Amino acid sequence: MNDASLLEDAIAPRPTDLSLIEAMIWTELDRAVHHRAAAGRPAHPWRRAALANVGEDGPEVRSIVLRDLQVDRRELVFYADARSPKVAQLRADPRGQILCWSEPLGWQLRLRCRVDVATDGLDVTARWALIRHRPAAHDYLSPLAPGSPLEASAAPLAPERVRESFAVLTATVEAIDWLELHAQGHRRARFARGELPQWLVP
Ligand SMILES: Cc1cc2nc3c(=O)[nH]c(=O)nc-3n(C[C@H](O)[C@H](O)[C@H](O)COP(=O)(O)O)c2cc1C
Repeated sequence: MNDASLLEDAIAPRPTDLSLIEAMIWTELDRAVHHRAAAGRPAHPWRRAALANVGEDGPEVRSIVLRDLQVDRRELVFYADARSPKVAQLRADPRGQILCWSEPLGWQLRLRCRVDVATDGLDVTARWALIRHRPAAHDYLSPLAPGSPLEASAAPLAPERVRESFAVLTATVEAIDWLELHAQGHRRARFARGELPQWLVP
């Protein structure tokens, strides 16, 4: 980006309608799922998010890939190994927070969510059928649970166990804390379920 386009961005009119901004946030999340990296085009920065939750020993946070979303239900979908510590933690306490940052947009999202874990049912089976032959499936093929000490003798997982170790995490967004960093002044707003959108001090 050259100096002229940076200047254009800085003086371009910014939307001021909170409902429009909320809709734009969901449009960007949709792009993050559907606009994959291609030759000469990086993945959308929100495709890789950070998911935080509360574990037995306190806060836990890790990178995670946004795989799908249902805008009308305010749901974001992630995949994980069912044996991973995060799955046990989220089953015990489903409160989560998802952090996304986009340098091109200058937007940070903090999404307060309830995260539900599913390892069986039609939806999980359909999603597994779609990814089982892709490289991503290897994330769920390790003979031992993620985070276990490495053991050379571990036998490969039996096929039925592989399917069992695939978990779908559905994060229902309850509130969005949106922060925009901008040369003409930062802006912040809160969009919470059942509440009117609210501008906040950045
Ligand atoms: C770029 C990147 C993307 C990742 N995507 C996922 C993912 O989609 N699902 C997942 O379970 N772990 C993913 N991981 C690994 C997690 O960050 C984490 O290391 C692992 O899941 C263990 O987390 P836990 O011990 O909290 O369960 C990713 C890591 C990186 C660096």
